[in-house]
Amino acid sequence: MVEPLVRRMPDLVTDSMFAEGRAETLRYHEDLYASTPLGAANSWLLEPDQLVLKAIELSRGANPILAFDLGAGVGRHTIPMAQGLAAGSKVIAVDVIPSAIAHLKTNCAAAGVSDMVTPVVGDLEKFTFDTSMVAGLIVGFSAVEHVSSITAMRALLCRCAAATAPGGLVALGIFADRIEELVDGTIRPALVEFDLDSMTVHTVLDEVFPSWIIEYTHTGAEHVPEERDGIPYQLESTLIQFIGRKPR
Ligand SMILES: C[S@@+](CC[C@H](N)C(=O)[O-])C[C@H]1O[C@@H](n2cnc3c(N)ncnc32)[C@H](O)[C@@H]1O
Repeated sequence: MVEPLVRRMPDLVTDSMFAEGRAETLRYHEDLYASTPLGAANSWLLEPDQLVLKAIELSRGANPILAFDLGAGVGRHTIPMAQGLAAGSKVIAVDVIPSAIAHLKTNCAAAGVSDMVTPVVGDLEKFTFDTSMVAGLIVGFSAVEHVSSITAMRALLCRCAAATAPGGLVALGIFADRIEELVDGTIRPALVEFDLDSMTVHTVLDEVFPSWIIEYTHTGAEHVPEERDGIPYQLESTLIQFIGRKPR
């Protein structure tokens, strides 16, 4: 694992850093979703992540639940959630990019799950849960870290914890320690909304979900080939996976 050469303090992120990281997040995903269909080989859209399949398995019961897919993209996890949860369950799929939600609607229709899914264009930075409902499952895969600061991420996770029903699950995949390695070995900081290191993620998870039952946790290195301005690079990061169950 290559160590980042440049590290910014998480809560010293400036408006321009955030704006630059946010613009890149939007550009990268808009381009990807326009060019790469759900299920495409050699892309992360090929199949759902095992973490989410595990969370669906752990959530499956006789009774319908309300579930959320935060930062849902084009529905890679929304669809298996709708298919795998008990009949009558509902999935609210939230993404900040309108074209992602448009693709998600098309993909849900093709999978025959449109009537179980409520697509929402929204920013997780400000997203609040309807307090009249409690969630049986909240998924955030490569999503909750796309806000303006560690304070904003922690606040979002606190809102997730509060919105979860006793016995319900929160399943998170959070990418940290992101750097970009060019083909000649040059290393540069990743263009993200704010720098996040894995130690901080573990600390925040411990603080926000203190007495929760840990159903699954794993931390490991990830290597994703990407391209910006026609220049290929490898995105190196640490993926922190967490499935917690709220005590009854
Ligand atoms: C790496 S993709 C993951 C998509 C999906 N969770 C999956 O695993 O297939 C991150 C998604 O989060 C969305 N996103 C990023 N920042 C967001 C925000 N602040 N609010 C809502 N969605 C956001 C992006 O538009 C993108 O679709």
